[in-house]
Amino acid sequence: GTSALLSGLHVAITAGPTREAIDPVRYLSNHSSGRMGFALAEAAVALGARVTLISGPVSLATPVGVERIDVISALDMLAAAERVAPHCDWFIGCAAVADYRLARISDHKLKKQSDHGELTLNLIENPDIIATVAARRSPPWTLGFAAETRELAQYAGDKLRRKGLDMIAANDVTAPGVGFGAEDNALTLYHRSDADPEQLASHVLPTRHKRALAEALLRYAHDRYRARQPR
Ligand code: C5P
Repeated sequence: GTSALLSGLHVAITAGPTREAIDPVRYLSNHSSGRMGFALAEAAVALGARVTLISGPVSLATPVGVERIDVISALDMLAAAERVAPHCDWFIGCAAVADYRLARISDHKLKKQSDHGELTLNLIENPDIIATVAARRSPPWTLGFAAETRELAQYAGDKLRRKGLDMIAANDVTAPGVGFGAEDNALTLYHRSDADPEQLASHVLPTRHKRALAEALLRYAHDRYRARQPR
């Protein structure tokens, strides 16, 4: 019969970059394509979930059956996440949220200073969206992502603990043909071990198309969700 592994579950997913305005015509952002988050949304619907996709500015079509909320900045994304978080069973943070935003957005287009060879922008830290969701009194099951260039297990483990997540999916962004902007990806999943929650357990999902990888990730996530410890 048809697979409905995730039926009855409401899955919220953040995806894409955020854009932090400098002035009315300029912004700071990053190269996130949103593909991994959109692939997860499509795969989750196919597995029977109700899906809310909170998306930064990307040029991707909304997968059929997905409820999409478009946002621009990290603060917009946080507001959307806080609206959805009380109603969802899983919260997946796939967005490449800008770490900083402008301390003050200029009301007018900044003028080039003819006497200066440099310009200083004052930045302040953005809130951590998935950590804020995970810190709720009764949080959804949370899955974060970590793009690392080295020491995958160490940095992913630190991130899992620091943000209070249930699982983290790490990719080595230096590996050829995977990660940002690519069609394919590979992930190593880290979560607390059932035998000893102080220890990390890991599970490798080898390189494949992001859509196939998304489905494998959701199937593994479902096992972890079912095995979750009451807090
Ligand atoms: O700390 P880092 O940015 O590497 O963490 C990545 C994970 O945290 C991803 O799941 C990302 O969506 C999430 N994140 C977030 N809000 C931020 C920064 C990262 O939700 N401000």
